[in-house]
Amino acid sequence: MSGPVVIDSPRVSVIITIDGPAGTGKSSIARALAHRLGLRVLDTGAMYRAAAAIVIDHDVPRNDVRAISAKVEEADLHFDWTADPPTMLAWNKSMDERIRDADVNEFVSIIAAMSEVRRHMVRKQQLIARQYPYLVSEGRDQGSVVFPQADVKFYLTADVAVRARRRAEQIREENERIVDPDELARTLTRRDEIDSGRADSPLKCPDDAIAIDTTEMSFDEVLERLTRDVLALKPELGR
Ligand code: DC
Repeated sequence: MSGPVVIDSPRVSVIITIDGPAGTGKSSIARALAHRLGLRVLDTGAMYRAAAAIVIDHDVPRNDVRAISAKVEEADLHFDWTADPPTMLAWNKSMDERIRDADVNEFVSIIAAMSEVRRHMVRKQQLIARQYPYLVSEGRDQGSVVFPQADVKFYLTADVAVRARRRAEQIREENERIVDPDELARTLTRRDEIDSGRADSPLKCPDDAIAIDTTEMSFDEVLERLTRDVLALKPELGR
């Protein structure tokens, strides 16, 4: 007697989320992890940064949420996935350089607290995941709001002084510019407060996330740890 035919449903997506405060190395870790596992990487902070840059550069009144959302929608934010890491585009023009400027850094937390802007970003991010369903997605709300059903969720933290030191080193290497780690620590703390204190999708560790304090860990140690945790839950990614 034969039983029912069981057909394994094909694995249609793998979503790994990495959330945490500014300067924990999420972007570099997400990129390295995605490379290792053959996944794409989505930098959602770049989308909020691009929105901030658009508002500044187009002189949109900073308290006019409707005008801000309309301008951000008009920009049709999307990525060029042929580049590695993918290039952030607005009106089909690269925003990669502009979004790292100091004025964008200052304003981005304010725009990221606007619910209308967030709704738009969440929709876009979910659409991206439908288009590229094998994804490491990093930000503040990826495991909690955007991809609550993610396969593996991480939440990275580190002491603010260590985060500031790492950022200062990164800026020195990339821009050959010396920045004061104490000033950076103050900026990071201010951003963390706004990101964690906002009403809509505040930064917080999802209950089902793997929380990792990277204060005492090197980049390679963090990467090894995340890779191990993902492969323990998704061994097929190692094949
Ligand atoms: O990760 P980052 O520093 O590039 O993020 C820039 C800002 O965008 C940060 O202040 C928080 C906000 N952000 C957010 O609110 N939600 C996300 N998913 C990603 C970033």
